[in-house]
Amino acid sequence: MSSTAIGTSTGPKKRLFSGMQSTGRIHIGNYFGALKQFVDLQDEYECFIFIANIHSLTGLPTKETLVNDTRNLILDYLAAGLDPKKVTIFKQSDVPAHTSLAWIFSNFVTNAYLERAHAFKDAENKKKEVTTGTFIYPVLMAADILLYNSDVVPVGKDQKQHVEYTRDIAGKFNNQYGELFKLPKELILELVETIPGTDGQKMSKSYGNTIPLSATDEEITKAVMSIPTDSRGKDEEKNPDDMVLYQIHKLFNPTVELKAQYTQGLGYGDAKKMLIADIIAFVTPMRERRTVYENDPKLVQEILLQGAMKANEIAMKKLTSVYEAVGLID
Ligand code: ADP
Ligand code: TRP
Repeated sequence: MSSTAIGTSTGPKKRLFSGMQSTGRIHIGNYFGALKQFVDLQDEYECFIFIANIHSLTGLPTKETLVNDTRNLILDYLAAGLDPKKVTIFKQSDVPAHTSLAWIFSNFVTNAYLERAHAFKDAENKKKEVTTGTFIYPVLMAADILLYNSDVVPVGKDQKQHVEYTRDIAGKFNNQYGELFKLPKELILELVETIPGTDGQKMSKSYGNTIPLSATDEEITKAVMSIPTDSRGKDEEKNPDDMVLYQIHKLFNPTVELKAQYTQGLGYGDAKKMLIADIIAFVTPMRERRTVYENDPKLVQEILLQGAMKANEIAMKKLTSVYEAVGLID
């Protein structure tokens, strides 16, 4: 908490930039791993939160899917508590400077360097055919961040390498053409472990093991009921931290009392009932905010328009200085 009284200022705020791909429905792993930080930090920083809808193209979604996922992500941002009066919220596709800068950056990285990216290696290990779009994903991400002179980038642990790549690219550009880019820092909640999904693997849209933030009561119930609970034998004492059910439950109820109940052998049926109620209570205010914005598409459009105008102004200035530095504008 800042000790500064409201209305007084201790200098310009540092700038925060982050966002998520509009691919599938945002889930509680995304919320606790990344989105919650955006919300918690919106007073402390000057915030730019975008919808990485060009990044979503790596999965070649249908038009309807991409349109829907993008709309839903905006609603999830607002539902989670991002305040459009404080935060500049915009769509990546509304700011053409992102892809222009990515092209310039592509000349600063070698294929061998991009082959060391975790996301690329994962795709290769799964014997997936890797498209050029997926291969150069980190380069576009560097452009996203660097266009805005970002100081900090709050992300989940698995995005750390992308921010390191961003710093590398900024450093290489600066060495060659002068100090145009600030080196951003990732903000990672070290205490938040990777949140497990309902099957015990990492919760991920790609694994079908999520609890979406916008889930209905029925979806929440179904998801919680499917969490495996056979990791503890009868009468056997287990550390609750080793149980998927508790790992998810403690996000919603981080009290010592709950942990003690689990340690003392709280029945799985009862634990699941409690968890369902805890999740529903947690998402209720989010649902209420979501409904407000869902019923007012003009307002959402206006938020994105204002966001795009502000983002374009900053991004175009930066891109122009890059064009000047490299000799594309004389
Ligand atoms: P997904 O794996 O569901 O497709 P993304 O890769 O789009 O998620 O990640 C969006 C953000 O949420 C990233 O900052 C990522 O680190 C974070 N994140 C995703 N899944 C989890 C998880 N299970 N636990 C913690 N953070 C997560
Ligand atoms: N790769 C990020 C994710 O999967 C999304 C993203 C794209 C991003 N560009 C970014 C996040 C720039 C932070 C900053 O979540």
